[in-house]
This record gives sequence, C-alpha cells and structure tokens, in this order.
Amino acid sequence: MANKDLRTWIEEIEAAGELRRISGADREEEIGGIVDLMMRKMTNPAVLFDQVPGFEANYRVLANILCSSPRVSLALGLPADTAGIDLVQYWRQYMADTPLIPPKVVNGGPILENVSQGDDVDIEKFPTPKWHEDDGGYYIGTAAMVVMKDPDSDWINCGCYRIQSHDAKTASIMISGGKQGGMILKKYHDRGEPCPVAVVSGLHPAMFMIAGTEMPLGKSEYDYAGGILGEAIEVINGPATGLPIPANAEIAFEGFIHPDDTVLEGPLGEWTGYYAGGANQEPAIRISTLMHRNDPILVGAVPAVPPNDNTFFRGYTRSGMVWSQLEAAGISGINGVWTHEAGGGRMWLTISVKTMYPGHSKQAGLIASQCHAGAYANRWVIVVDDDIDPSNMNDVVWAMCTRCDPKDGVDVLNGCWSTRLDPMSYSDEDPRNSRVIVDACIPFRRKDSFPKMARSSPQLDEKIRAKWGDVLPPGA
Ligand SMILES: Cc1cc2nc3c(=O)[nH]c(=O)nc-3n(C[C@H](O)[C@H](O)[C@H](O)COP(=O)(O)O)c2cc1C
Repeated sequence: MANKDLRTWIEEIEAAGELRRISGADREEEIGGIVDLMMRKMTNPAVLFDQVPGFEANYRVLANILCSSPRVSLALGLPADTAGIDLVQYWRQYMADTPLIPPKVVNGGPILENVSQGDDVDIEKFPTPKWHEDDGGYYIGTAAMVVMKDPDSDWINCGCYRIQSHDAKTASIMISGGKQGGMILKKYHDRGEPCPVAVVSGLHPAMFMIAGTEMPLGKSEYDYAGGILGEAIEVINGPATGLPIPANAEIAFEGFIHPDDTVLEGPLGEWTGYYAGGANQEPAIRISTLMHRNDPILVGAVPAVPPNDNTFFRGYTRSGMVWSQLEAAGISGINGVWTHEAGGGRMWLTISVKTMYPGHSKQAGLIASQCHAGAYANRWVIVVDDDIDPSNMNDVVWAMCTRCDPKDGVDVLNGCWSTRLDPMSYSDEDPRNSRVIVDACIPFRRKDSFPKMARSSPQLDEKIRAKWGDVLPPGA
C-alpha cells in the first residue's frame, strides 16, 4: 500500500474544517499577502491555491500548513483536538522512545509521472510565489526537504533549508553554520568534488517536521519519519544522483552544488519577523532532473512576523526537547515547558517547576537558557511555579508581576549563542546576544508564608461546573 502523503493529510484537514481553497490569486503579491493576513490570526486555515494567473490551472500552491494545533496533531496521527502541553508531551515521548523504520526503495511512484532532464528542466513552470513584497526573489523551497549523502558512509541526511529559484535550471540554498547539511557539503568541497543534492517539496507534513528538527548526527531523518508514520517511507533513487526521494512527493529536483559556485541569495523575510540576514552569496544548485506528480502541489511554510508557519509547529518540538534536556541535566520537578509563538519558538521560553530547594528555579532557568535545544537565539527565559500553566500567557505575566523580585530574580547573560538573523545580536561578525533569566517563582524561603491566592479552589470549581456548567462560557 502506498504511503500516507500530502494529499492524504489535505483530505484529513479539509474534513476537520482546516482548509480553505482559493482560485485565481496571483503569485506576485496576492498569495503571499493572503497567507500573511491568515497567519496573524491564531485561528486560521491552511490555504490551497489554484488557477494562478500565468500558470497551468491545476498547478497548485499549499501554504500556512502547520500554523494551527489541529493541523500539527493530524500530521502526527493524533486526534485533531490534541493541543498545548499534550502535544509537547507527545513529542517528548516520541524522542525518548523513537521507533526507527528505514526507507524502502521502490521502482516507481507518482513523483515519476513527469520527468525532465537536461535542457528540458524548467523549475519556473510552477507558480512559486513571491512570499513578501521585499523578498529578493521567488522561494520554491520554504517547506522543502533537502537530501544529501555523507561521502564517507551510507548516512543520508535530510534538512529543511530555504531554496530560492533563480532560473529554469538554477536554485540556491542557504544553510546556517553548524547544520549537518552544511557539514556534508563542506566534505565534498574540501575534496574539490561537487555535492549531489535533491530538493523535495510536497511531503507528508510529518516528514517535513522531522526534516526541520535537529536530529542526532549520523542518523537519517527518513528512519525517524518512518517511525512517526508507522511505515517505511517508499523512495525512488534520483536518476542523476542516486539520492533517495519520496516516491509520492509532489515535486522534486536533483543536481549538484559545485565548489565555489555561488549566486546572490535573498533577502527573504525571516522567522524572527525581520529582514536581518539580507542578501549574500550562497551555494548554487545546478539542476539535472526535475520530477513532479500530475497536478503538482508546491508547499510553502512562510517565515514572517510570528506566529508564522516556519516556527509555529517547532514551538511544540522545542518545548519537548528543552524539557527532556533539563531532566537529563538533573533538574527535577519540571511541570511543563512552553515556547511562546511570538518568539518564533526560540526567543521566549517558559519553564514551570515545582521548587524543592533554594536556588532550584534559578538553576532551571540558567540551564534552559544554555542547553542545546534552548540556547540558540533565545532572549527570555521565565521560570514559574508548578501552579502556573506555562502555556497561559496571562498567568505567566501575572507570576512575573507578583512573584518576581527583580533585584535578585533577574539575571542578564552576555555572549550567548545566537545568529545574524537575530536583530539584536551584537553584529554580523559576532552574532552572539545577551538574554534574561526571570525567576518568577515564589521565593523558596517564603513558600509557607506567601499570601494566599484569591481564586476559588479546584474542588469548588468542580462543584460549580457540575451544577452551573450551562451558564459558564465554553472551557470555563
Ligand atoms: C520551515 C523551515 C525553514 C528552515 N530554513 C532553514 C534555512 O534556510 N537554513 C537553515 O540552516 N536552517 C533552516 N531551518 C532549520 C533546519 O531545517 C533545522 O535546523 C534542521 O535540523 C537542519 O537539519 P540538519 O541538522 O540535518 O542540518 C528551517 C527549518 C524549518 C522548519
């Protein structure tokens, strides 16, 4: 039986009322403009565009894919109403006990319905949108998975890196420092060899999520994605590179990145909500083969002022990873971790902890700000007590307002790991930043004497709900 694919998920989200279809929007401003307005609302549908003027009517664009918890849950095979800390817990569980299912090579698949090579390759036949007015070009890959093979082993790495299209047969790739795809690329170039690469758009979103999440060095994201989907991912071998490409993906191209072959890339609106990285010379991909399904669907996950599709789902995965890394560092009593979407899943971290000894909350905050999953581009870490739901911003701010004594509850750390995309990093040459740890827990020495909370008890809440539920607002 064929794998679950993007089209399976589209059917599921449409049945859940999470899809809007729009015909006739243009790719210069309208698709990007519609998506931008949609993402600003916390309740928003994915959008499937067709009949884009100037292109084949049935060449489609799907955007705003994982910018709602029902769509993230459905991608992971969970009930659509799984949300908040439950989704974070799912990810923790998945990372702790990851089933790995290796991919399976098959002889054919829908991706081979249309294949062009050499001079016939034309990636400009798809209605790739200009996602923001000030972008430097058309980004065919904002939700694309890039496949590479380690030249020294059988390790296949998949990562999500932005891909700009430049002409019919040329694209570019932007890989930030420290990423595994960049390490593989460097190995080829240090030997003076071209690096084979495949770019895939239109995957089952669980596979896309895995490609965009830091997985251990030397492990293949294909195995993890198979584990999430519960079945081996069927792949074909790219005709020019031999790289594995999902047999039921929508669009894929393969080619080579030659040493010292760069093009001017960018700018593209970024996940922090700014253009901070600008335009730079980046590696060119010279394309040898283009493959796509009939009626292909190009997928976009657009970075923009948060909440945005580039980072929304990563809030859940990052929260789960920070939680696990805090526990691995020996911090007990963690009740929850939450990365607020306004911080692009990185810049704001709330840790809820049951404090058990003096200094416990400060220890949790400092480690959260520096553990591998939490350190990059963080700005604020807020530590709250275990009676505060870290995903409820009102309660978090209330704790900051009423339980924090700034003179010893606020610490500023300098010289931390960040990126030139962080608009407040020191400089392009020195992209570190400073950050704040806020201890908003009741001081340990005052735990028994702190003023009582002016809120009805959970027992009274239950009694009132049982008797007066019909007059209360939904969810009260
Ligand atoms: C939608 C999306 C876009 C991304 N864009 C980039 C990018 O342009 N460059 C980059 O280095 N990382 C980008 N990332 C982050 C990487 O995909 C992520 O760090 C991943 O783990 C990299 O894979 P690797 O560790 O195998 O290199 C993006 C992630 C997502 C989800």
